[in-house]
Amino acid sequence: MSEPERIQTPYLAAEDDFERTLRPRRLEEFVGQSQLKEQLAVAIEAAKARGDALDHVLLAGPPGLGKTSLAQIVAVELGVAFVATAGPALERKGDIASFLTSLEPRSVFFVDEIHRLPRALEETFYPAMEDRRLPITVGQGAGARVVTLELPPFTLIGATTRAGLLTTPLRDRFGIPARLEPYSTQELAAIVVRTARILEVELDEGGAQAIASRSRGTPRVANRLLKRTRDYAEVRGAGAVTASVAHAALELLEVDELGLDRLDRAILRAICEKFAGGPVGLSTLSVAVGEERDTIEDVYEPYLLQLGMLKRTARGRIATEHAYAHLDIALPSAAPVLF
Ligand SMILES: Nc1ncnc2c1ncn2[C@@H]1O[C@H](COP(=O)(O)OP(=O)(O)O)[C@@H](O)[C@H]1O
Ligand SMILES: [Mg+2]
Repeated sequence: MSEPERIQTPYLAAEDDFERTLRPRRLEEFVGQSQLKEQLAVAIEAAKARGDALDHVLLAGPPGLGKTSLAQIVAVELGVAFVATAGPALERKGDIASFLTSLEPRSVFFVDEIHRLPRALEETFYPAMEDRRLPITVGQGAGARVVTLELPPFTLIGATTRAGLLTTPLRDRFGIPARLEPYSTQELAAIVVRTARILEVELDEGGAQAIASRSRGTPRVANRLLKRTRDYAEVRGAGAVTASVAHAALELLEVDELGLDRLDRAILRAICEKFAGGPVGLSTLSVAVGEERDTIEDVYEPYLLQLGMLKRTARGRIATEHAYAHLDIALPSAAPVLF
C-alpha cells in the first residue's frame, strides 16, 4: 500500500497524509465523472455476479482528478485486496513476477504512473493481462529455459497522466480504458463541502463557490485551497470560511480569479515577454521559469490549454491573445503568427 504513496512527484508528496484522510471510499462518495462511475458500477456488478475478476482498467488524466482514489474504490466495491506499486518501482521482470504470483484471486493490482514502466517490461504484462500466464526465464546461458507460470485472476488498474506514452499493445489490453475529465465548479463545490465536513471547517455556500471556481477543475487543488483558506479564516477571520474570507485568502496565496497561481502566470509571462509570444520549446521554458519540464507539462499546461491561453505547436508553445489580455500585456505590434 505504501509504495505508490512513496513514489509521487515532489509536487504531490507533501499532501499525502492529508489526502489519505479525504479520499472517498465508495463509488457513491466519489463526486462527478458520472459516466465513468456508471460504467464501472455495471462492470463491477457483472464481475461479482460471475465470480470473475474485473476487466483491466486504465485511468488516464491530469494529476489530482481522482485516479488513485478510484482504483482503491474499485477494490472496495469488488470486495477484494488492493496491491499497489508504481511504474518506476518495477525495474526487473522478477519484480512483476513476485507481485503477480502472490496476488489473492481477483485482487486489484494498481500500477501508478504506468507510462513510466521500463519499455522492456511492458511486454511482460501482455500475456499476464491476456491469458494470466507469465513466461519467465530460469537459469542462465546454455542451461536457461523458459517456465510459464500460471497466475491467479486479477485486475490490473493502470493510472497515467500521459496515456499517449503507452504503447498501443499495452493500451489495447485494457478492457476498460477511461479518461477522467476536469470537474465543474458545482462538482468541486460539492467536494469542498464534503472535505469541510470531514475537517470540521465551517464553510458557507459563498466560500465553497469561491474556492471551487479557482480550483482549475481539480479536486486535489480544491482541497488544498480549502485547507489554506481555513488557516486564514482561523488567524485573520472569525474561523468560518465565507466568500470574503476565501477571496482574501486566495489573494494572499496569489491565486487569481481564474485559479492561476504564480507559476501559471510566470509561464505565460515568459512566453509573452521573453519569447515574443512563442513558439518556445518546453525545455527553454522550463529553464526560464525554473520549474521541471514534467511538472510544467503534467500539472500546469493542461489547465492553460483548457483556458485557451496556451497552444501547443510542433515548434513549441505559443501564448494566445487571451493570455496577453489576462496578464494585461499589450500584444506585440509585429506579432508573430499567433493562431
Ligand atoms: N471525485 C472525487 N470526489 C471527491 N474527492 C475527490 C475526487 N477526486 C479526487 N478527490 C480528492 O482529491 C485528492 C486527489 O485524488 P487522487 O485520487 O490522489 O488523484 P490522482 O491519483 O488522479 O492524482 C484525493 O485525496 C481526494 O480527496
Ligand atoms: Mg495518484
